[in-house]
Amino acid sequence: MSRKKISLIGAGNIGGELAALIARKELGDVVLFDIPEKEGVAKGKALDLSQNGAVLGYDAKITGTSSWAEVAGSDVVIITAGVPRKAGMSRDDLLGINLKIIRSVGENLKKAAPDAFVIVVSNPLDAMVYELKRVTGFSGKKVVGMAGVLDSARFQLFLAEEMGVSVKDVRPMVLGGHGDTMVPVTSNCTVNGIPVTQLVAADKLAAIVDRTRNGGGEIVKLMGTSAFYAPASAAVLMAEAYLKDLKRLVACAAYLDGEYGYKDLYMGVPVVIGAGGVEKVVTIALTGDEKAMLEKSAAAVKELIEASKKL
Ligand code: NAI
Ligand code: 2OP
Repeated sequence: MSRKKISLIGAGNIGGELAALIARKELGDVVLFDIPEKEGVAKGKALDLSQNGAVLGYDAKITGTSSWAEVAGSDVVIITAGVPRKAGMSRDDLLGINLKIIRSVGENLKKAAPDAFVIVVSNPLDAMVYELKRVTGFSGKKVVGMAGVLDSARFQLFLAEEMGVSVKDVRPMVLGGHGDTMVPVTSNCTVNGIPVTQLVAADKLAAIVDRTRNGGGEIVKLMGTSAFYAPASAAVLMAEAYLKDLKRLVACAAYLDGEYGYKDLYMGVPVVIGAGGVEKVVTIALTGDEKAMLEKSAAAVKELIEASKKL
């Protein structure tokens, strides 16, 4: 069996960390793609990571390029192309800039890798993944957005810290759009089966929900650009689930065709990822409050998608 090919569109902070993780896990050969002005960066990172393989002892061919020909026939494509948030910028401010980029990536991708499982990371996430699907015409099963795994990880960490327990024992889920209206689901969150509402006081829980919603902004404020270690790990988890048919049940921005009452929309919902891509959207029971928050989040995503259509 030949090695899988994983192309990373965007060789910036997340792209570099993605390449490092994928190589270490030996998920396949890596193509690190960026625009011609950044081809040196892509090639430099690829060479550094190839040498890292000699130190750490992994086998993965890592190529840096600005040629779409190198992307041809990819099994998985992870898109981080675009501009990250700067301090004071919302994800939505990025819309105009990143929309042009995602459209050009989509046009190239549909020719180069029509059979790939595509994970979009670029912000504003829900609008970008919607646009990528629209431009390529790929099936919703093969185009998914990464946000829920990251947002859930933030929720998980903050809860674990509050309770003084291992992050491994907290089972969180954050749904909705990847923005300030995201929905950390407290009704279904457990610590090894114990409802979190029994373990964390309501005011503390509300503060953690709030911190989770602003989890990306907190890091942007600290370092002047957005997070990249956890975002890269989250996207690799999704890629690995597809490549190894792991049937992971995680929150991702998935194409909704009636599920949760929404049609022709991308938003964070629980899905199963396996060899078929997004094999299933899982419908879970939510409280009245959570449904209302999801509705608000869906409205914010729809607004962004409508704005994209005019640009
Ligand atoms: P970065 O600026 O370090 O890297 C982005 C790269 O994209 C740059 O190297 C740039 O040259 C490249 N690029 C621009 N246009 C391109 C094109 N047409 N084709 C290929 N490459 C192109 O940014 P970083 O930190 O890697 O973040 C990438 C994106 O991910 C941003 O939009 C950021 O907001 C988003 N993000 C999303 C998260 C999520 O949860 N979905 C979490 C964190 C960041
Ligand atoms: C994050 O959540 C900014 O979307 C980026 O870290």
